Amino acid sequence: MKALVVFGTRPEAIKMCPLVLTLKSDPAIDVRVCVTGQHREMLDQVLAIFDIEPDFDLNIMKPGQTLEGITTAVTEKIGSVIDQVEPDIVLVHGDTTTSMAAALGSFYRKVPVGHVEAGLRTYDRYSPFPEEMNRKLISALATYHFAPTQTNFDALAAEGVTEHVYITGNTVIDAFQYTTHDGYRFTNADLARHDFSKPTVLMTAHRRENLGRPLENICDAVLELCDAHPDTSFVYPVHLNPAVRETVFGKLEGHPQITLTDPVDVEDMHNAMSRSVMVMTDSGGLQEEAPHLGKPVVVLRTETERPEAVAAGTAVVAGVGKQQVFDTAHRILSDRETYEAMANAVNPYGDGHASERIRDILKESFS
Ligand code: UD1
Ligand code: UDP
Repeated sequence: MKALVVFGTRPEAIKMCPLVLTLKSDPAIDVRVCVTGQHREMLDQVLAIFDIEPDFDLNIMKPGQTLEGITTAVTEKIGSVIDQVEPDIVLVHGDTTTSMAAALGSFYRKVPVGHVEAGLRTYDRYSPFPEEMNRKLISALATYHFAPTQTNFDALAAEGVTEHVYITGNTVIDAFQYTTHDGYRFTNADLARHDFSKPTVLMTAHRRENLGRPLENICDAVLELCDAHPDTSFVYPVHLNPAVRETVFGKLEGHPQITLTDPVDVEDMHNAMSRSVMVMTDSGGLQEEAPHLGKPVVVLRTETERPEAVAAGTAVVAGVGKQQVFDTAHRILSDRETYEAMANAVNPYGDGHASERIRDILKESFS
């Protein structure tokens, strides 16, 4: 069988590279990789870590790019890649605009789409934006649906998506076998210098719906947390979106307890997380990774499509008000019992073998 794997942003790459390597290790599968380049530097960082050289690079990223721009560029360019490769299946991931447009382009060529990380929902079409609508559209376009959890499977069933739906776990957990090892040394100079023997909170925030006031509130809450916890430091690798950087550097740069750094590679990220006490984030991927490492997560959003971690007791949805964020994080950092309960909860996102399950399902379907 011939599979064309398409991705374009950092999180898709981190979650698809383990699958690419698993598929490539099987001589019965011909795998081609097409990156859209919706992200450039942040995507290339991941490709380097997994040592994957794409067969096609659509190289579409523009500064300040729009959703329409990404959608049209990918939809237009993916068709000729599909014409050249003639795949049996196109594999896309999650909820980015790259994935939605690649799924649409594949549908236009009547090539079946396999959707990795299917069935996540917040049931609010504008939050996260545009991801909630992207993943619903991909569910409509796809033929094969690889749902990480039972909750995701049930969400698809409730929408009438019942054929070729499989529970596989999340491939993000597979990624850890490539990134973490004992005695790891950081490549990022700020991380290499950082004293992880003192309590460290690892944080990220980048979502479109958090730009502006919510992100300012989050930064203000972090400043108050610094005052309330003078022994605790915050490490924040800041997304390359200029709209994120302007707010974050404007509010937090120069604070002695806060390290702002450029995006770090995923090996550095996973190892920094494993040495931190807590994670604060609006990222989807971090909400799955932190429970795997036994780190409590403060979700910097008003909702989540990952309720499993909340139900398991390892994540709390704090909202994006300054006081809410402060109160939630402060409680976890101050109350030993709350902390231990969250840190010892069980990771609901899989056992690190999701890629193998997807490979086996594909082989059975196409043999
Ligand atoms: C995208 C995804 C989002 C995902 C996020 C992961 C969409 C609509 N959004 O959002 O679902 O959570 O990626 O990070 O698909 N930039 C660079 N270099 C990079 C990456 C980004 O300079 O390597 C800058 C560019 O100016 C770009 C801007 O960031 O225009 C925004 O990138 P974009 O992919 O449009 O949005 P994200 O917020 O990254
Ligand atoms: N990540 C990384 N370096 C960073 C920040 C995040 O490698 O500086 C990883 C993180 O571990 C996770 C993924 O990027 O695997 C999350 O990506 P992002 O937050 O950009 O997107 P989301 O998950 O919200 O879609």
